[in-house]
Amino acid sequence: MIFSHPVTEIIDQRRSYRSFLPEPLPDPQARELSAFLAALPEPPFASRVHLSLVRAFDAEARKIKLGTYGVIKGARNFLVGAVENGLADALLDFGYLFEATVLKATDLGLATCWLGGTFSRSAFAEVVQLGPGQVIPAVSPVGVPRESRSLVDRAFRYIAGSDGRKPFGELFFNGEAGLPLTEMKAGPFGPVLLAVRRAPSASNKQPWRIVRDADGRAFHFFLKRTIGYRRLPVDLQVVDMGIAMCHFDLSAREANFSGNWTRRPPRIPADDLEYMASWVVY
Ligand SMILES: Cc1cc2nc3c(=O)[nH]c(=O)nc-3n(C[C@H](O)[C@H](O)[C@H](O)COP(=O)(O)O)c2cc1C
Repeated sequence: MIFSHPVTEIIDQRRSYRSFLPEPLPDPQARELSAFLAALPEPPFASRVHLSLVRAFDAEARKIKLGTYGVIKGARNFLVGAVENGLADALLDFGYLFEATVLKATDLGLATCWLGGTFSRSAFAEVVQLGPGQVIPAVSPVGVPRESRSLVDRAFRYIAGSDGRKPFGELFFNGEAGLPLTEMKAGPFGPVLLAVRRAPSASNKQPWRIVRDADGRAFHFFLKRTIGYRRLPVDLQVVDMGIAMCHFDLSAREANFSGNWTRRPPRIPADDLEYMASWVVY
């Protein structure tokens, strides 16, 4: 995956935007984004993830309105993704690759907004001719943002507290869940974890928790579910975890750390946390 700016800078810059100039994507950016999609690598758990760039213009020619319940204004292009089923591996892989593409769009100066709830599932399913059993976990508008945010956008950001993130020590632990890891103790992995902390998540719930092994050679990713958060039609908090894995992986690579994804839960159990995956140094 090739970016033209440092990935940690792109991650810092990315924000959700909900109002766009009602114009097609500028040609060079459209071509670069399509090339990026065509060259996506295999995701951590090797699921089949189908991502495509859809033009509202083409959908309208087929009498399909790509509705977002009035949340998104002006967008003429959407990134749409589908997976073979709604199981955890597929959703993690989806979150990982979709976020990589969102970061590429940001790299190209375009704006995006993950939508896991406020979009017409039936319209997007029709436009990508979704196959039996396949699921669209989320979509995103892609385009040039309007200079000022719409009222709806500002309301969403205010309600979700979109500019804030939980403190470092509430998200990342040292050796055992519950023992906070400080940025200082994280050493060279500090910037990598800061990149995870900046990740977008559904309703900005930030359900990711990471436990670093005492020897610093493995990072275990856990889900802390938000009580009462709906898992249907798609378990969006698992998608959030895939996004966090993407931020971790891309920033670790940029810092020249080598590791890979595996399932190797730590021996010490973590009460209310659901184990998802580990990144292990090699
Ligand atoms: C999986 C996922 C689903 C989301 N679904 C919606 C949605 O349905 N509607 C919406 O307006 N924003 C949605 N968001 C955007 C979040 O509210 C936003 O990422 C969060 O508040 C943090 O703000 P930021 O992206 O500007 O950093 C979603 C984000 C993620 C990661």
